Amino acid sequence: MRFILLLMERSPASYLWVLFFAFQFWTYGCLGCLEKEKSSLLELKSSINHPNGTSLLSWRVGADCCSWKGVTCSSTTGRVIELDLSKTRDFELGDWYLNVSLLLPLEELRSLKLRDNWLSGFIDEGELAMLRNLEELALGGLNFKGPIPPAIGSLTSLKILDLSSNGHNDSQSIQGLCKLKNLQELDLCCNEFDGMIPLCLSNLTNLQLLDLSYNQFSGKIPASLTAGLSSLLYFSLAYNRFSGLFALGSFAHLSKLKGLELSNNDLEVETEYPPWNSAFQLKFLGLSNCKLNRWTGTIPSFLYYQYDLTEVDLSHNHLSEAFPIWLLENNTRLEILNLRNNSFFGTFNLPLHSNNTNMMLLDISNNHFSEKLPFNIGTLFPNLYLLNVSRNFFQGSIPPSVGDMTSLESLDFSHNNLSGEIPDNLFDGCFSLRILKLTNNSLQGKILSTLSNLTHLRYLCLGSNHFMGTIPPSLFNVSLRGLNIGDNQISGTIPSQIGHLSDLNALILNGNHIDGEVPLEFCQLTKLHFLDLAANNLSGPIPSCFNLTNLEYMHLEKNAFSGSIPSALSRSSSLISFNIAYNNIIGAIPSFISKLSELRILLLRRNNLQGYIPVEICQLKNLSLLDLSYNRLSGQLPSCINNLIFGRAVLHNAFHISQTSYLTIPTMNISQRENYAMVYSYSIIDSTVADDITEVEFITKSIVNSYRGGILNYMTGIDLSSNQLTGEIPLEMGQLSGLHSLNLSYNQFTGPIPVTLKNLSQIESLDLSYNRLNGTIPSELTELNYLSVFSVAHNNLSGRVPDMKSQFSTFTESSYEGNPLLCGPPLNKSCISTSPISEAPEEDENEDDDNIVSFYGSLVGSYLVFLIGTICVLYFTSQRRAMYFL
Ligand SMILES: *[C@@H]1O[C@H](CO)[C@@H](O)[C@H](O)[C@H]1NC(C)=O
Ligand SMILES: *[C@@H]1O[C@H](CO)[C@@H](O)[C@H](O)[C@H]1NC(C)=O
Ligand SMILES: *[C@@H]1O[C@H](CO)[C@@H](O)[C@H](O)[C@H]1NC(C)=O
Ligand SMILES: *[C@@H]1O[C@H](CO)[C@@H](O)[C@H](O)[C@H]1NC(C)=O
Ligand SMILES: *[C@@H]1O[C@H](CO)[C@@H](O)[C@H](O)[C@H]1NC(C)=O
Ligand SMILES: *[C@@H]1O[C@H](CO)[C@@H](O)[C@H](O)[C@H]1NC(C)=O
Ligand SMILES: *[C@@H]1O[C@H](CO)[C@@H](O)[C@H](O)[C@H]1NC(C)=O
Ligand SMILES: *[C@@H]1O[C@H](CO)[C@@H](O)[C@H](O)[C@H]1NC(C)=O
Ligand SMILES: *[C@@H]1O[C@H](CO)[C@@H](O)[C@H](O)[C@H]1NC(C)=O
Repeated sequence: MRFILLLMERSPASYLWVLFFAFQFWTYGCLGCLEKEKSSLLELKSSINHPNGTSLLSWRVGADCCSWKGVTCSSTTGRVIELDLSKTRDFELGDWYLNVSLLLPLEELRSLKLRDNWLSGFIDEGELAMLRNLEELALGGLNFKGPIPPAIGSLTSLKILDLSSNGHNDSQSIQGLCKLKNLQELDLCCNEFDGMIPLCLSNLTNLQLLDLSYNQFSGKIPASLTAGLSSLLYFSLAYNRFSGLFALGSFAHLSKLKGLELSNNDLEVETEYPPWNSAFQLKFLGLSNCKLNRWTGTIPSFLYYQYDLTEVDLSHNHLSEAFPIWLLENNTRLEILNLRNNSFFGTFNLPLHSNNTNMMLLDISNNHFSEKLPFNIGTLFPNLYLLNVSRNFFQGSIPPSVGDMTSLESLDFSHNNLSGEIPDNLFDGCFSLRILKLTNNSLQGKILSTLSNLTHLRYLCLGSNHFMGTIPPSLFNVSLRGLNIGDNQISGTIPSQIGHLSDLNALILNGNHIDGEVPLEFCQLTKLHFLDLAANNLSGPIPSCFNLTNLEYMHLEKNAFSGSIPSALSRSSSLISFNIAYNNIIGAIPSFISKLSELRILLLRRNNLQGYIPVEICQLKNLSLLDLSYNRLSGQLPSCINNLIFGRAVLHNAFHISQTSYLTIPTMNISQRENYAMVYSYSIIDSTVADDITEVEFITKSIVNSYRGGILNYMTGIDLSSNQLTGEIPLEMGQLSGLHSLNLSYNQFTGPIPVTLKNLSQIESLDLSYNRLNGTIPSELTELNYLSVFSVAHNNLSGRVPDMKSQFSTFTESSYEGNPLLCGPPLNKSCISTSPISEAPEEDENEDDDNIVSFYGSLVGSYLVFLIGTICVLYFTSQRRAMYFL
């Protein structure tokens, strides 16, 4: 679609035509339009407004229809020749079926644009074929699915056909278009076509634009496809499922080509062999995620001969070279250079001087660049609006010229080895800055109070550095949406001005030395989704805010919070994760906990909680990690515990990776760019929060490594150890078949080990040690194929220990010690005995007549460690798709 814009933009002839036409209209316009055209347009108006819309106000009965919005008449005949009804119908009015008969009186109609009208189909689709003079037809952005209407194939005058963003899925129906020999632009982007590309498209020899991107075409790219398409200017196959090796040289003959996009298929694009000479001078090149020159890692050599490039995307390949400084030198109109996620290495040298003031976007993140950042980066690219150098090995300080980039909106220096203090006024010139990310470096000094001069700043991420001093209250004069200063050496209290941040979504202050109480004003942060204050010296009560209804993640662990769990919490019904472990919280686990129905993670470890585990906890259907260990909880374990699924609940939105393609931005005009800025800020809001959790370790002894990253998606566990729980282990426990880890050690559980535990088929760690369990160990437990940590030590168990088969062959005496009546290997005590045991434990369901052995050894109880790491990860989803739906 942008190509169309572009073609118009670049063709001076079209301006002339507009001028010429304007003049003609002035002379002949007063003739007015034909009555039959007018009346059918009025019918069309009422159809598009059906049942009660109010669009097309200018279309009034008395007026000359040539002056109506969207209507253009011929200067010579006065007949309607163009009809542009894009985005006219209010989508709330629902589906729309266009009565094609209404268009038939418009006999000279050449251009019909109906984009974005919730059009679901046509009344008498066949009549479309009668619009014989049609040269341009735009039916994109609609709601109509299935095959391309065959009647379109009869419109032999068609030059421009836009069917993008529909739900078309019948690839066969594309063949109907192959008769349209005059076609110059064919946009089939963003549909659901699959299978092979119909080869007959190669007959469309006048084609200048062919956009097949964002479909599900698959197979190899047929080499013969472009053989006849020597007029092609723009060609996109991006975002499909093409596969196999593709030699770029097969496009060498497309001498007029200006734009080429092959990004994000499953292709392996080879640019060097067989050798070829490019006949084209490209403006746009998209080869992201193309396994480009997979075996050599070299930059395509044809690029050496290009001097007109404006947008280049080589991201997500394995290119392994020094920075292609010549690309900047040769292409003085370059606007976008995306080298993200390759293996570029060495120093990042920029030209000393450049006449290129167009550079807007430079992304060299996720490579192996080292040494210092170029001192002149800001002077060289004064109009840059995005600069991302994160995830490299840059050292030294941030170059002062950064302040020269007055248009900069997004600056990401995170994940490098940058050091030194940041000069007070470094960013003062960057007054457009919306995103500033300096996380994971070794930066020092104070947090600049001058950052408050950046009134557009929305996301400030300074986490994981060596910043010291206090939080400057002036920072809260900027209406931040995300603030991350976690994992530094910040001291002092949380300033009460924090209440000014009424748009704040994410607040990350963890891992500092912040003390005092959380100020009352904190409760004004009603948009907060993500809160991490963990590992500070905060004291006083847990903030009791009735209006934090959006809060999803609340991490207050490892502080000195006291008092009980506030009842206000019951209103935070969006909570997904609640962690107050390692504090001094007293009182009972409130029964209102059941109101937090989205809760997946509940960590209350090491507090002074007392009383029973409320049965209401069983209503937390989505719970997957429950840690109540090291408290003083008593009473029985509710048998309704089997209500909990502890299954593979998938954290919504979390951990999804966005594909970044920047290629669209520069073709937008200013107002589109503004919208775009909004789109990306919204998408950040929606995703920051979830993306902030990058790693949650749920460590059960011996399986530390298996759970890094993405763990919340599938890790499930219960730790109730070190309490005063009594009664029997409920049989229902065995129904938690998704459970990976269960720790009931150091309690006063009595009775037998339920044989139902054999159903915990996913269990990897089972610790029942230090209780008062009796009876035999169910031999069925050997069916637990994933068990790697097992202990029943220090109980009153008796009889034969499970056979040393499968996982049980790995458990040693220490798993059983402290049970004098157990026998059989690996214990030293054999079970051979002449008399069967008389003191068999009550309710022993086991059939074996086991004998008794005793053995003492050492036991290492399994344990759980929860560690929530937070990193401010901001990104934008500049997906073209998002833009299409603007
Ligand atoms: C379509 O429009 C024509 C011409 O106005 C009219 O005669 C016909 O009844 C319409 N069809 C429907 C189904 O409304
Ligand atoms: C681009 O730069 C390279 C290296 O400086 C040079 O060899 C080549 O001739 C230049 N190409 C153009 C088209 O300027
Ligand atoms: C980097 O690119 C490779 C393909 O070359 C892709 O598989 C991987 O997911 C990318 N990594 C990131 C972080 O985008
Ligand atoms: C920049 O432009 C000036 C004059 O137009 C020219 O003399 C100079 O060589 C150019 N510099 C570069 C690096 O292209
Ligand atoms: C930046 O803010 C500081 C105080 O925070 C102020 O003294 C200074 O004048 C401001 N600079 C500009 C350029 O506005
Ligand atoms: C912050 O804003 C308040 C009022 O909105 C103002 O009084 C104060 O001076 C501002 N502080 C800074 C450092 O700009
Ligand atoms: C939220 O509640 C706090 C007190 O609990 C109050 O000060 C604040 O004004 C409330 N905010 C909103 C937006 O209702
Ligand atoms: C639990 O998770 C599912 C899946 O994410 C979600 O649809 C549901 O609303 C959540 N809450 C409850 C109470 O089931
Ligand atoms: C910068 O690039 C990194 C890695 O490629 C990405 O994760 C991050 O989101 C980008 N930052 C911004 C602000 O877009």
